[in-house]
Amino acid sequence: MIEYDKKAFSLRVNHLIKSVPYDGGILRLLNDVTMHINASSISAIIGRSGAGKSTLLRCLNGLEAIDSGQILINGQDLTSLSGQARTVLLRQIGMIFQAYTLLSRKTVLENVLLPFALQGKVTTVQRQKALQLLEEVGLKDKINHYPAELSGGQRQRVAIARALVLDPGVLLCDELTSALDPKTTFEILALLKRINRDHGVTILLVTHDMNVVKEIADAVFVVEQGKIIEHGTSVDVLMKPQHAVTQQLVESTVGGDLPVFLLDCIKTDMSADEKRSAQRVMRLIFTNESSKQPIIAAVATQFSVNLSILAGALDHVADHMFGHLWVSCEPSEKLEDAIQYMNSHGVGVETMGYLSWNM
Ligand SMILES: Nc1ncnc2c1ncn2[C@@H]1O[C@H](COP(=O)(O)OP(=O)(O)OP(=O)(O)O)[C@@H](O)[C@H]1O
Ligand SMILES: [Mg+2]
Repeated sequence: MIEYDKKAFSLRVNHLIKSVPYDGGILRLLNDVTMHINASSISAIIGRSGAGKSTLLRCLNGLEAIDSGQILINGQDLTSLSGQARTVLLRQIGMIFQAYTLLSRKTVLENVLLPFALQGKVTTVQRQKALQLLEEVGLKDKINHYPAELSGGQRQRVAIARALVLDPGVLLCDELTSALDPKTTFEILALLKRINRDHGVTILLVTHDMNVVKEIADAVFVVEQGKIIEHGTSVDVLMKPQHAVTQQLVESTVGGDLPVFLLDCIKTDMSADEKRSAQRVMRLIFTNESSKQPIIAAVATQFSVNLSILAGALDHVADHMFGHLWVSCEPSEKLEDAIQYMNSHGVGVETMGYLSWNM
């Protein structure tokens, strides 16, 4: 096992604007994008098709010219550099696209050596490094194969090894797993996690698959019409999406929906009088810490509020466990106190309505 230095890396994007000439006018593809990526984190960029995600990654990688703004890599502004200084700074950025960009006439090893070959004659040390990386991604026995002889997942592994060969501070991945089956996707995500942990490399990935976000991301940025409309930890964005677009994107990804037959029995338009005598339906949201506490028992003993469980699910986002529990309870004077108690113990409580079995 090779020991890599943890990277002191920083990536900051400030007020990035990018437009293209379009139909006799100007079309803004990115509109004042500001994002700060934490070193050694894994961040996901999500958004609807055409939102500008790939354009953003291409700007960060220097593949697209921008109108204005800053791309600060370790404090140096990529947009203000040219020539050799720019080339050197760009080595901090490794990129993997969805379409496998391997050279079909080169072997796996030659593909991984390509970034070195482009700089000049490949040294023994560089060759050794490429071999070590290929071993890390599980392709030691395929080094002399050609891309056509590999599966989709194996090709992505080659692309990952190649992206790492120049020791980048950040890996940008665009829909890395979208062409892969669920099992291979999971294996590639596990590999990325391992690389993130062992190499300390920061990862910024574009995905439309919320399971990828759940599995791997610490932070999420939501792009809509060239703007970041929402960002936060993946737990926050998946569990409490603020923007309607985000809600649509994450809908039904995070477990814990109420069965339809129960949904049909929940009434929201009751009079205050009716509410006082009806069973209230609530959704309890447990996050990492609160999911380990005996909250329901505490509420029963301290407030005599007995919660009946209607439905629920336990799930995870990255390494955080969380759960949704749909409960109902009989009218009780102590209910508000019980809700306050749950809130103060890290359990989110949302009132969904009131049970009306006779509807
Ligand atoms: N050179 C260009 N000229 C005109 N429009 C462009 C150009 N490049 C991109 N666009 C448009 O910009 C928008 C953003 O494109 P982009 O590829 O970044 O979207 P995306 O978020 O990656 O979408 P997807 O999820 O489908 O990959 C799209 O509407 C696209 O048609
Ligand atoms: Mg795209």
